[in-house]
Amino acid sequence: MTIPTVEIKDDAVRLIDQTLLPAECRIREVKTKEEMWEAIRVLRVRGAPAIGVAAAGALAVEINRSSSVDSARLLEELEAAADYLATSRPTAVNLFWALERMRETGRRHRELPASELKKVLLAEARAILAEDREMGRALGEAGAELIPEGSGVLTHCNAGSLATAGFGSALSVIYVARERGKSFRVFADETRPLLQGARLTAWELGREGVDVTLICDNMAAWLMKTGKIDLVITGADRVAANGDGANKIGTYGVALLARAHNIPFYMAWPSSTLDLSLASGDQIPIEERPAEEITIIGGTRLAPEGVKTCSPAFDVTPGELIAAHVTERGIIRPPYAENFRRVFAAEQGLE
Ligand code: MRU
Repeated sequence: MTIPTVEIKDDAVRLIDQTLLPAECRIREVKTKEEMWEAIRVLRVRGAPAIGVAAAGALAVEINRSSSVDSARLLEELEAAADYLATSRPTAVNLFWALERMRETGRRHRELPASELKKVLLAEARAILAEDREMGRALGEAGAELIPEGSGVLTHCNAGSLATAGFGSALSVIYVARERGKSFRVFADETRPLLQGARLTAWELGREGVDVTLICDNMAAWLMKTGKIDLVITGADRVAANGDGANKIGTYGVALLARAHNIPFYMAWPSSTLDLSLASGDQIPIEERPAEEITIIGGTRLAPEGVKTCSPAFDVTPGELIAAHVTERGIIRPPYAENFRRVFAAEQGLE
C-alpha cells in the first residue's frame, strides 16, 4: 500500500516503470509531456486512476519548466499540453477528468502572475494525487464487508496500489478486509496479453503478505465450478450512467462466468472513473492495442509473422451482471441510473 507508484516533484514526475515488474522495481523520472505520453502509451504507468494522476503531474511539471513569463501564454501551453496528453490512451476516463481539472484550475487563476500560476498548478496536481489515495482508502473501507471470512476472491488485471496513487480500488477492498482480521484467499487471473495479473497483482499482493494464487485466465470457470471462488471484484476504467463498466479485456467474460455460477461480481472504483455523460457502456471508446502484444511475449515470437490480430484492451460489463459498485461514497446497488444520480450528480455538476 506504500508503493510510490506516482510522485510529483517540481521538475519531474517519478513513476515505477511497470513494464519492468516483477523483475525490477525501478523508478523512472518523466520530465516532459512527450515522455509522459510515451509512459502512458506503453503502460509504464497504467491503471485508470494512476494515469490521471501522472498526466496531471506531467502538465504541472511542463508548465513549471516553461520560460514564458506571461500567464496568458502559460495557459495556452497548458491547453496544448492537455490536448496532447489526451491522445495517449482513450478508455480510462480518469485521464480526461484529471486533464480537465488542471485546465479548469488554470482558467480559474488566469489573473495570477506566471510564477504564482505555476505553483497553483503544481499544488492542484498534488491535490489530485492526495485525493486519489483518500478515495482508494475510503472505497476499501466501504467494500471490505463484501468479503466473507474464509472466502475465495477472484480478481482480474491489476486494480491495486500500482494502478492508483496508493491503496488501489479492488485491491484496497482486499487490503482493508485483511486489516480487519479476515482471512481469505485471492486468485489473480494472469490477464493476457500484457499479464498485469501475473506481473503486477501477484507481485503487489505477495509484497503485502496477502494469500494470492495465480491462475491462467482460462481456469476461472473451473475454479468457480469447483467451489473455490465466492466473489469476484475488479476495478474499472470508465463507468457509464446506467452502471455498465469498462475494465481490462476479459472482465466481461469473468462476469458472465460469475453469473452462470451464481457468484456475485463487484466493480470497485473512485468517482473519477464515473462518466455520467455517457448513457451506457456502448459509448465507451475501446482502445485497440498493437499486434506484437499478442504475438510476442518477453521477446519470443509465439505466432507467425504477419498473422492478423484483434486486440481490444478493454471490454464492457453490462450493469445487469454487476451485483454492486463499490465507491468512496459507499456500496451502490441497482438500479444504477437512479442511484448514481442520487449519490454523484451534484458533484459532477449535473444538478
Ligand atoms: O491497460 P491497463 O493496465 O491500464 O488496464 C487497467 C485496468 O483495466 C484496471 O483494472 C483499471 O484501470 C482499474 S485500476 C484501479
